[in-house]
Amino acid sequence: MKSLIILGRQPALGLAELESLYGPDKLKPIEDSAVIVDVDPSLLAFDRLGGAVKFAKILTELKTVSWDKIGDFLAQSSLDRSKDLAAGKMHLGISVYGFTQSPKQVQLLGLKLKRVIRATGRSVRVASNHEDNLSSAQVIHGHLCGPNGWELLLVKAGKQTVVAQTVKVQDIEAYTQRDRNRPARDSKVGMLPPKLAQIIINLSASPLPSETTSSVGNITPNQLIPNSKSHFNGTLLLDPFCGSGVVLQEAAIMGYDCLGSDIDQRMTDYAKTNLDWLRSLPRSPLPKEVSTEILRADATSYIWPRKPTLIASETDLGPPFGSFPSNYQLETAINNCNKIIRGFLTNIFKQIDSGTRICLALPAWQVSQTKLAHLPLLDSIEVIGYNRVSFRHARDEQLIYRRPGQIVARELLVLSKK
Ligand SMILES: C[S@@+](CC[C@H](N)C(=O)[O-])C[C@H]1O[C@@H](n2cnc3c(N)ncnc32)[C@H](O)[C@@H]1O
Repeated sequence: MKSLIILGRQPALGLAELESLYGPDKLKPIEDSAVIVDVDPSLLAFDRLGGAVKFAKILTELKTVSWDKIGDFLAQSSLDRSKDLAAGKMHLGISVYGFTQSPKQVQLLGLKLKRVIRATGRSVRVASNHEDNLSSAQVIHGHLCGPNGWELLLVKAGKQTVVAQTVKVQDIEAYTQRDRNRPARDSKVGMLPPKLAQIIINLSASPLPSETTSSVGNITPNQLIPNSKSHFNGTLLLDPFCGSGVVLQEAAIMGYDCLGSDIDQRMTDYAKTNLDWLRSLPRSPLPKEVSTEILRADATSYIWPRKPTLIASETDLGPPFGSFPSNYQLETAINNCNKIIRGFLTNIFKQIDSGTRICLALPAWQVSQTKLAHLPLLDSIEVIGYNRVSFRHARDEQLIYRRPGQIVARELLVLSKK
């Protein structure tokens, strides 16, 4: 059975992580921000996808993109749907992707469906379309994935329309809790968003084994039954620039044993405090069996006590420039970062097996409206002993995370040891 995934603000990042976990043949992008994934929905690990915002069950594919015909089809389907639901108020919402209809037109379609359903005697609440698709917060607070909820997704796929029903949206509260409530934070070393940390980890991971338990679980018509958390026994993730530990935190939640290190004692203390806090939460998302170890170490020379099976890290990003740097400032930042990261890649080479995957979030600098400055080491990856891993559904130059206005972007580099 196939699933539909709606991707986040930078869809290429979401496509690359899906490709890394499930392989290129399992993905069929159908619109800028939507992709059909040919993976059993009960095995799709939605909660670990940082680049996905909605997970949906495909209801049908219509051989039309005519708005009126779609409306007629949905009017009939809504009747059937309302009959299947338990008594009580129905919560309805519509999100469209790839259509040119305005939010108002989408809202009118929702109101049309509401009239049809109300004629059967059932009360209905329709979510307001401020945009042509509803946010995760609207889906959660509007109970659209609840037992009486129905968020319909209409995705234009060439001359066809994929009609799907949202089963789950990203858990924005859990992300906020893991991001903002961590006791030890330092804005100077940058704030890696947990979602980006998940993407970095997923890009360093090999395809998930098919028996991997999913955080989504078996789908019943309206709800999800989460399976128990998995533990990737024998798989050790290393973050050699762990800072306050966001990558370690997300990797541990996914079920990886973790080894973290940083040159700065203050940062290793922060990472330990944050992991202890996560473990101590009343309903901790961290599986009990997962081990975490944090050390103080210079990544350019240290010999780690255990051999990592995957490496995921946000490296030193240099100064957090608030405005375009001078040529001197930029050159200094590039040289310093290049030296540290190249030093790490050379040092770790002798300590890992051939084929070991590494994903590093490296700095890249916006030097003009259209131009980015990259680290020189990108041109000598092969010489240091690594192959760059590229993706079929996302180009290398799209794997750059950058918020509007930011000077220092994060370039995601995926490598495999030769
Ligand atoms: C951008 S921060 C990483 C932030 C981290 N992702 C987090 O969640 O807080 C980069 C880290 O690299 C560390 N670092 C810089 N040079 C290093 C080196 N040679 N070896 C190990 N760590 C180093 C810094 O102390 C800093 O904590």
